[in-house]
Amino acid sequence: MSEFDRRKFLSSSLLSGIAAAALPEILFPQSKQKEIRKAVVISSGNGLSATAKAMEMIQRGSDALDAVVAGVNIVEDDPNDMSVGLGGLPNENGIVELDASVMHGPTHRAGAVASLRNIKNPSSVAKVVMERTDHVLLVGEGALNFARMHGFKEENLLTEESRKMWVKWKEHLSTEDDYLPPHTIDDRNIGSKFHEVMQTYGTINCLGKDLNENISGVTTTSGLSYKIPGRVGDSPIIGAGLYVDNEIGGAGSTGRGEANLVNCSSVMVVEFMRQGKSPEEACLLACKRIADNTKMKRLQNDDGKPNFNVTFYALNKRGEYGSASIWSGGSFCVNDGAINKKSDSAYLWKR
Ligand code: GLY
Repeated sequence: MSEFDRRKFLSSSLLSGIAAAALPEILFPQSKQKEIRKAVVISSGNGLSATAKAMEMIQRGSDALDAVVAGVNIVEDDPNDMSVGLGGLPNENGIVELDASVMHGPTHRAGAVASLRNIKNPSSVAKVVMERTDHVLLVGEGALNFARMHGFKEENLLTEESRKMWVKWKEHLSTEDDYLPPHTIDDRNIGSKFHEVMQTYGTINCLGKDLNENISGVTTTSGLSYKIPGRVGDSPIIGAGLYVDNEIGGAGSTGRGEANLVNCSSVMVVEFMRQGKSPEEACLLACKRIADNTKMKRLQNDDGKPNFNVTFYALNKRGEYGSASIWSGGSFCVNDGAINKKSDSAYLWKR
């Protein structure tokens, strides 16, 4: 019996009286032959630099939360990634508003910020909310004041590239309004290329298991591009865009946050793993639940399936990992201590 199985058995058998030999199989029936992977980091497909950094720190003995936050800080700092932090796509008024959450498995604590302006590393602010307050979530002006209090530097997060994308979106919103994209004297229907400037839900999620077999996670985002100011997605909501149970595993998500908010999806993935599903199976089941619960016709395609995508990332206590999307095209990055690679996510339906 491994160290994890032994600890699990001792604590659980006291509670339930379940036979010693049976317990690990109840928890992980599909994977009983596999070896426990000591350390592993998984992220969304835009997180290859994050998984590399987090694993490097974990192998030097870092706590998983310190490691994954340092990992996603790289992506938040990157002006070329328009889904998070510096250079994130702004709200409808051209102001970047960031959301993030962290969850620390061994202490079962969490911290989060929402609608945070001017601070490029909301994941780090979320971690300080967890560490230095008795609260879980701070929003807007309160979150910004808290970040200032803890010495975070304010800066303009709207890069030239993001500003140009926002202007293009605004100018193509309607042919009836007064904002006009570049045009000639012969053009009609000026501003009709809305399909070229579709809104996006870019985000980074990163989960890690450290050498002490503790699991933690982080999700950080600029949210839905060109959103209504004040709109908050799933990323800073514990149970929706991120959840960790240190005895079972962790899960996080990217994609349409509203779908995760009404389905509590990340905690659902962890609960499916608790029932014995593999991380990939758990992610697929959560995708299926979202599809089943998508009742509004405006959110369905002609076949009645969701017309949006959501991707899940999950990691269990054994260090097994998986990812799945509603629609094909999703990807994830993983570092198992040997290689750092990007792979395709499983999916319910092919586009
Ligand atoms: N999943 C990111 C968002 O919807 O804001």
